[in-house]
This record gives sequence, structure tokens and C-alpha cells, in this order.
Amino acid sequence: MRAALEVSKELDVAILTKVYPSRSHSGAAQGGIAASLANSEDDSWEEHMFDTCKGGDYLNDQDAVEEYVKSASRVIYELEHMGCVFSRDKDGKIAQRAFGGHSKPRACYSADRTGHAILHALHEQLLKNAKSIKIYNEWYMHSLIVEEGRCKGVVVSDIRTGEVEVMQAKAVIFCTGGYGRVFKITSNAFAGTADGVIAAYRAGIPLQDTEFVQFHPSGLWRQGILFSEAARGEGGTLLNSKGERFMEQYAPSRMELAPRDIVARAEQSEIDEGRGIDGKDYIHLDLTHLGEARIMERLPQIRQLGIDFIGVDCVNEKLPIQPTAHYSMGGIPTDMFGQVVIDDKGTPLTGFFAAGECACVSVHGANRLGTNSLLEAVVFGERSGRSALEFAREAELQPLNEKHQKTKTLNLFEEIYQRDGTESYNDIRNEMKEVMMSQCGVFRDEKRLKDCISKIKSLQTRYKKGKITDKGNLFNTELYEIIELGNMLKMGEIIATGALNRKESRGGHFRKDFPERDDTNFLKHSLLSEADDGEGIQINYKDVTITRYKPAKREY
Ligand code: FUM
Repeated sequence: MRAALEVSKELDVAILTKVYPSRSHSGAAQGGIAASLANSEDDSWEEHMFDTCKGGDYLNDQDAVEEYVKSASRVIYELEHMGCVFSRDKDGKIAQRAFGGHSKPRACYSADRTGHAILHALHEQLLKNAKSIKIYNEWYMHSLIVEEGRCKGVVVSDIRTGEVEVMQAKAVIFCTGGYGRVFKITSNAFAGTADGVIAAYRAGIPLQDTEFVQFHPSGLWRQGILFSEAARGEGGTLLNSKGERFMEQYAPSRMELAPRDIVARAEQSEIDEGRGIDGKDYIHLDLTHLGEARIMERLPQIRQLGIDFIGVDCVNEKLPIQPTAHYSMGGIPTDMFGQVVIDDKGTPLTGFFAAGECACVSVHGANRLGTNSLLEAVVFGERSGRSALEFAREAELQPLNEKHQKTKTLNLFEEIYQRDGTESYNDIRNEMKEVMMSQCGVFRDEKRLKDCISKIKSLQTRYKKGKITDKGNLFNTELYEIIELGNMLKMGEIIATGALNRKESRGGHFRKDFPERDDTNFLKHSLLSEADDGEGIQINYKDVTITRYKPAKREY
């Protein structure tokens, strides 16, 4: 939405979404958006930059991080002027709270509904600019059209009718989100199925750093639904079965407010070593000492989620939590202006831009700090929108082979309708989620990753032997779920292949067989692309840009 607003300053723009703009998964970023406003303590963009790079285990491209954190305060005030309602401190300034890995309280928040508040403020702006912004709700994007080395549009279908169309455009911006749905336990909305990232991959664009998947420490046990890190920012504690605040063993100076990769590993270690609550795979998030008034002012959504989903009121009882797949650090490689690049030399793909979780700029490196993703969405939404606008202002629509492009998707529909096998797509989906969680999750090693890849490949074979029951055109959600599953199976293979190749531990990627960071061999981005046979995956590398902060030991 932020990208579209930027383009609409001069040109017409269409937003195409398989859900509705206000249902975007950004709504799940509950606890805040980072900026060094310094409303409660001294702060500076340099400190924000340092925290971000240290948090990212120094895989961040620091030229991009600098631009990003420098823009933060301005974009917060812009959001406020657009109507985003931020919580206030006692002096009436935008309130800021502590968050994991940030050395200063810099999370600007709207209670624990910050993403939701931003989404709705932006949506109102879209409606205000409706003359130049057309929204296609419940349309699905099947493929990116790249011909003669240039992006010319997308192939899409209307979910309501199944009708396939080619959308020609001078410029295309992907803001298609991540792929947490590949994992069994995830905070991600149902829409997070890798569609955009896989469309880029299939169009020949390598994917960057996809082995780095963030597990958020506080997912509701067994369901993965997010309990915001704001709960710990407000003073919530983590307890094991012995009632110990175990973070003391893992991050003594930051405790529960260490970066997410460290807290998630600590929790998983407690669980694996038998100190989960009642010997099960969860630990406790304790907010009972905060009191009802503070919880209702700062964390009302968390309270309601606990009551609605498991009948636990966090005012009086502890919440059962476990690590949940939350965010993809990797994705479609872009430069700091949102232009998609296709190799280690930064060669642009003309007419194609990306921003947000589907993109890899890379400002988060190997592990994102909480509240930095809403900031990324707004800063790089604006930047990619501006780049697309500048490009499209001078560009011409390119002729394209519409029939050929449409036929590929129509053939895919037909092929799925014709499948007459005995495999269940639900079983395949569940088995994929299970294996990704157990073999490619918080802890990884060579054996687990090889098992994971081999299992995913066998699921890909079984996928071709399924059977669809609904062969109609109207709202055929079964068809779209099968297509999404195909994307996720490919994504799972890509994540695990990158993880097997990276023989070190860095940020969100932890190899039990290579527990140390290895800057000599792996201080580099991975680029994974489709091999010439269309099946295998090949891996190349790209240098990391280091400007201000040399990689140092990461201690908290
Ligand atoms: O915990 C949270 O509120 C999530 C925020 C984020 O991922 O940035």
C-alpha cells in the first residue's frame, strides 16, 4: 500500500491481492515499529544501525541499513500525519517501548495492534486516492512475465470466477510476503505461501539467503499464533518447568529481551532437555505480575487471544508458548532502491521491483530484530514505489506474447483437473509442515537436512499423484490451495538446500554440527537459482557490504 501511494503521486497503479489489503499479514506485527525518536531515552540512528547489524549477525548490507534507519523517524511522523493512531507517553509524545536486541526503547506502538493500525491508516489513504489506485481483491498472481530480459507484467486469475488474465504493466512491484506456512508451527496468516518468491524464482531470479528463517519465541503452543514480543518488552518473563527464568543462562545481560534467534534457541533447548512444562514442548510466558490495568492498556490483544483460543487469561495465568516460524530474512534480492537484481554484480531486472518480507535488501542479515519489519515495509515500500514511478514515467508498455503467457496457467489448471491419483493433498501438506519443523527448524544438522530434502522431493512426486474434488470455476479454493502447496513444496526444498550448504551457525540458522559462525567461509549471501534442467538448485554467492561495523563476537 505504501508503494502504491508513492506511484499514485503521478501515475495510475493497480494493487492485486489474493486477500484484501487490510488483511495483509503486516497486521500480525503487533508490538511496534522501530525508530530512534528518542522520546523516552537518548537514542540515535547510529545506535539503531549498530543494534540491527549485531542482531543480524553481520550479514546485513550496511549501506542499506544506514539509509533505512536514517529514514525511520520521518516515516513514523508521516504515518502519524496519515492518521495512524500511536499510543502516547505522559507528555503526549509517541510512546516507545523496549524490544529484543534494541539497546534503547525505540518501538513506537499502538497498544499491541501496531501493524493493524498502520494497515488501516494506509488503506484509508488508498481510498482517498481511489482515482489513481485500483484494487483487485481476491485475485491470484500465477507468474511473472519476463521476456527479452525485461519484466512486462503478471499472469493472474480472479479467484471468484477462475478467469485467467494477463496484466500488462510498465513496472511491477512485488510485496507478496513470506513463507511461514511451510512450517507446522507458524504465526503466519494463511496467505503466507511463497507465491511471489517462487514466481520470481521460476522467472529465473535467484533467491537470496532463504536459509534464514526466523522463529519467534512466543507462539501460542501448538497453534503458533503470535503473542507479541511486546509482552516481554513490558516486563513479561519466560519460565521453564522448574519455574526458573532460564534466559539467565543464555543471555544474562538482556535476558528475555535478547534477539529472537537467541531466545528461540534457549526455549527449544529447555524443551529438548526436558524442562518444558509438564515435560511437554512448551514453556511459560508469565505476565501475571504486570497487573490488569497495564495489560489492558498495553497488551489487550494478547489477553483476548489467550482467552479466545485456549481459555487462559494472562492477568491471572501463565501462557503456554513455543517458537513459531515468523519471518523470512531471505527473498528476492533487491538493491536499496527496491530494484530487483539478478546476480552478484547487481544487474537489474528492468521493470521489476520488490519490497517487504518477500524482498531481501538485506537490512536484516541473518536475524531480524522485532519492530524492524514494519519499518522495512514502510521505508522500502516508499523507496520501491518511487523507483518504479521514476522508471515507469519514461517507459513504454512492451509488446508481449499474451496467448503464450495465459496458456501456461490454463495448462496448469487443466493438468491439476486431470490428475486422477490417490494421494491426499492434505496429507502432503501436513507431512511437509512436519518435516520442515522437525528437520529444518530452530536446530539443524546435516543428517536432518538431508532427510528433509529427500522427504520434500518424495512429497513433490506424490503431489503429482493427487486428485482434486472440485472441478468448477467459482471460488475454487481447493484449486488455489493445491497451487499454493506446489509453491510451498518448492520453497521447502530451497530453504533446506540453502541450510545444508551453509556449514556454519549465524543468526536464525543454527547448525548443531557447525555451531560457530564462520566469517572466513560464509560471510556472504547465498543466491539459489533454478538449475538448467528446471529441477535442481544451484548456489552462488554475493559479497556482504560492510561499512561502519566490522563483524564482532555477538554477546548479550
Ligand atoms: O512480536 C511482535 O510484536 C512482532 C513484531 C515483529 O515481528 O516485528
